[in-house]
Amino acid sequence: MSDSSFQRRKRVLSGVQPSGNLTIGNYLGALKQWAREQHRFESFFCVVDLHAITTPYDPAVLRAKTREVAALYLASGIDPAISTIFVQSHVPAHSELAWLLNCITPLGWLYRMTQFKDKSAKQQAESVGAGLLAYPVLMAADILLYQADAVPVGDDQRQHLEITRDLAQRFNHLFGETFTIPEAMIPLAGARIRAFDDPTAKMSKSEASEYHAVHLLDSPDKVKKTVLRAVTDSGREIAFSGDPERAGVNNLLELYEALTGQSRDVIEAHFASARGYGDLKKEVAAVLIETLEPIQARYRELTRDDAYIDDLLAEGAARAAEVAGATLALVHERMGFLKARA
Ligand code: TYM
Repeated sequence: MSDSSFQRRKRVLSGVQPSGNLTIGNYLGALKQWAREQHRFESFFCVVDLHAITTPYDPAVLRAKTREVAALYLASGIDPAISTIFVQSHVPAHSELAWLLNCITPLGWLYRMTQFKDKSAKQQAESVGAGLLAYPVLMAADILLYQADAVPVGDDQRQHLEITRDLAQRFNHLFGETFTIPEAMIPLAGARIRAFDDPTAKMSKSEASEYHAVHLLDSPDKVKKTVLRAVTDSGREIAFSGDPERAGVNNLLELYEALTGQSRDVIEAHFASARGYGDLKKEVAAVLIETLEPIQARYRELTRDDAYIDDLLAEGAARAAEVAGATLALVHERMGFLKARA
């Protein structure tokens, strides 16, 4: 069903795993654009808890982080009056469609995924779960259930979007037009923030080392310390550059660009009179602190009462289940399942 028979607003769906502490990379790659795009698109934002169990985890932490991530969606400006916020496991259609799609996914597609190769390499071979291999299929189910037209994500999710499109096309080819083919929506600035302690690596929320990332709930003091310690090169010139030797400074400039919305020319002119990287670091820390301050204030307000978040999540799941249920019913019919008698 491409929904072409009637006009509907274009849809987006996206999600964050409730694992680790959300970073400024998650904000710039995902949440910030969600908050902007929710006014143009009918939006579904889920906390993808079923994805967070594909690597070893602690159940108590998962439960707490699920609420924390939902609260951070709201604190970052997602408006529950216009967007649907829900927890993936509260809508069982996600697991069910994932199973159905698993049955038409060639194993070769999954073994080729860089995330599977990276994450499985970090574990003992015998402890790598089948869920880690099937991870992209669950993500495809998340997106396809809502017939999403666009998926706002950071640059690291490109390959996952490709496999989602391939799976949708394969399903449509095997069983008839059913799924909308979604596009990745990747921001121009801030799509791939690098780690402060190693600018060759992506900033990640599951990295434990102390000065790796700025987290959305870090104190101003911690933000300052992390940015001032950022690894840079031994030069002095403050300019955007694709040179891997200068990735640290480039990362600070890209952060500044994504946070302030200024053009690269304006930014380079602004730092032309700086005395060195120290000045750049101080200013990046200041704009980070300024960005995080209102988010943290809203977060504190929202989390005074768990019931508020839980009520919103219940409403979100009910709305999401309606949309997901309609797609799943169509998939059942297309795939030839006998309808259960009412
Ligand atoms: P996750 O939880 O790793 O990251 C959530 C979002 O943050 C973006 N991101 C970054 N953007 C810029 N710089 C960074 N350093 C950075 N680190 C993370 C990610 O690109 C992502 O947009 N597989 C997904 C979760 C998922 C999902 C979905 C996303 C499950 N189902 C359906 C979209 C649609 C993931 O692991 O994201």
